[in-house]
Amino acid sequence: MSLTVDPLTGTIGAEVSGVDLREKLDADMAAELTSLLHEHLVLVFREHALTPEQQIEFGRAFGEIKNPPVRTSHGGPPEINVVSQDDPKGEGADNWHADNTYTADPPMGSILHVKELPGKGGDTMFANMYEAFATLSPPLQRMCEELTATHDITMSLTKAIQRGHSTADLDEIRSRFPPVVHPVVITHPVTGRKALFVNANSTVRINELSDNESDMVLRTLYEHVRAPDFHVRVRWDLSTVVILDNLATQHYAVPDYDERRTLHRVAIKGGVLA
Ligand code: SIN
Repeated sequence: MSLTVDPLTGTIGAEVSGVDLREKLDADMAAELTSLLHEHLVLVFREHALTPEQQIEFGRAFGEIKNPPVRTSHGGPPEINVVSQDDPKGEGADNWHADNTYTADPPMGSILHVKELPGKGGDTMFANMYEAFATLSPPLQRMCEELTATHDITMSLTKAIQRGHSTADLDEIRSRFPPVVHPVVITHPVTGRKALFVNANSTVRINELSDNESDMVLRTLYEHVRAPDFHVRVRWDLSTVVILDNLATQHYAVPDYDERRTLHRVAIKGGVLA
């Protein structure tokens, strides 16, 4: 079976067909898809709905699965996190973010699969963080390369608790996940390319700057990430599966619906970033 690859924009995303994700992938196919992921950062498959077990098995083609650090309550396998919403505005997924950057070893990728869709809306947008870095002016690039930032779970978890989406004990979770430091610009461990690595859900401050300067620089960088020049927008149906590179992209779940939307996420283990 040979793959068809259709780039979705000039900078990010490709639709891939010609592979049955319900079957265990052989090593050649896994290597081909991994290489496509590093090239396009977001791969969209349109052909098959997957069971939770098939989604997890597909994830294994890209590496070891990382169970969610804070699990949403559902009866399914522990590798899956369920994001289920009917009032999504202000919930956190509608901030540009990468997943779980409050951990010391953020996932290298995530596999997303929507299981329940509103009548309209509920797309997900993705942004290329290599381009976000490359399109900063050189003096700002040089400054960012010298900086580190603190990432903390408190902001997003407090929001989830306040909205009734988590019954987690904030103090207990904070003791398991104390704030961590990552470079503001990471070198991707596989491609060696530089990517901007601060996000509005988990980054709380830039360590080498004063509070005011940190706020100002983070605001500027978050504003920059919103540039549509390096975005792709994916419309879901129940046969769509997306894999994203969590170190080289951010995503934004468009909160333009008021019926239930349920998404299953499986994360692939990453490592400490430099
Ligand atoms: C997420 O933020 O990982 C969920 C993305 C989505 O709901 O589209």
